[in-house]
Amino acid sequence: MIVLGIETSCDETAAAIVHEDRTILSNLVVSQMEDHRPFGGVVPEIAARSHLNHIDGLVKRALAEATIAFEDLDGIAATGGPGLIGGVLVGMMTAKAIALVHDRPLIAVNHLEGHALTARLTNGLEYPYLLLLVSGGHCQLLAVSGPGAYRRYGTTLDDAVGEAFDKTAKLIGLPYPGGPAIEQAAKYGQADRYPFPRPMLGRPNCDFSFSGLKTAVARTVQNTRVNQETVANIAASFQMAVGEALEDRTRNALQRFKTEYPAGTTLVVAGGVAANAHLRAVLAALAAEENFRFVAPPPDLCTDNAAMIAWAGIERLQQNLTDTLDFAPRPRWPLEDLAVIS
Ligand code: KG4
Ligand code: ZN
Repeated sequence: MIVLGIETSCDETAAAIVHEDRTILSNLVVSQMEDHRPFGGVVPEIAARSHLNHIDGLVKRALAEATIAFEDLDGIAATGGPGLIGGVLVGMMTAKAIALVHDRPLIAVNHLEGHALTARLTNGLEYPYLLLLVSGGHCQLLAVSGPGAYRRYGTTLDDAVGEAFDKTAKLIGLPYPGGPAIEQAAKYGQADRYPFPRPMLGRPNCDFSFSGLKTAVARTVQNTRVNQETVANIAASFQMAVGEALEDRTRNALQRFKTEYPAGTTLVVAGGVAANAHLRAVLAALAAEENFRFVAPPPDLCTDNAAMIAWAGIERLQQNLTDTLDFAPRPRWPLEDLAVIS
């Protein structure tokens, strides 16, 4: 089984071809980062236009790199949400046209499910596993027991963790996207220089909160002369605080997961923020402490890509979970709504 994946929900236009034996035949991304950088964040209209300009050529190139033709595809998968609606429309429309013309099944993939199942593509992981999903728009802990089978243990009460990285970067004058910029700056900073709050630390549940941390950074910036050294120290101290918060929340989730899924032995981290080496190290140590295996996809498959959409498409197609051509893109689409909870 070979599936084409299309991803257009935010600021990357992406197309990929994946085989059910887990081979990625091609995986292309056109990043619009430079288009959005002057605005310090993603501008939806610019994103939608850029997706429209790139998607056709990108699909053609993905086929050429995989040395296959439309006729060799067994399904067409595209992100159906959640995300910026203009972009999702462009990707879905393209996928529907290909599916219609070549008479192939259409799979509307939930973007979060793409992130959630990436570790199965990269590591051939078995269900169930505990997933920490950390991206620009989401911060959740989920028990994953199959495509469409998610039990949410916790979520953020305010900002997503990637959003906290992006906003903090802006406060200290680092470029968009903030995550990689903060990680880079943090290498030269002292992580114990600023005692930023560790939100929710010690609370019994698995929820997150990052707005207080962001406010603490804002207050520090107001009272500090911002130069290269203080930027590095703030970045390092911020990253450390995020690491401790994620570790504490994930530890609680692991306890719950162990009782609910005794067969599960793996902690997975996914989503753009999972590209962060410090956070990966913190979570790897936690997993080791709890006798869990730790899996983090390679950084380029943590950030938005179409291979993960093609893979989720394959898993859905294997279970005949296809969609009709009247599928309506969804700007909001919580993972639990997919649920056939076990
Ligand atoms: O998954 P993703 O590519 O897009 C969404 O679905 O949101 O995640 C993007 C987010 C951004 O907030 C970005 O700043 C963050 O992931 N990010 C990072 C790193 N690379 C990307 N955060 C921390 N450290 C990184 N190295
Ligand atoms: Zn994403």
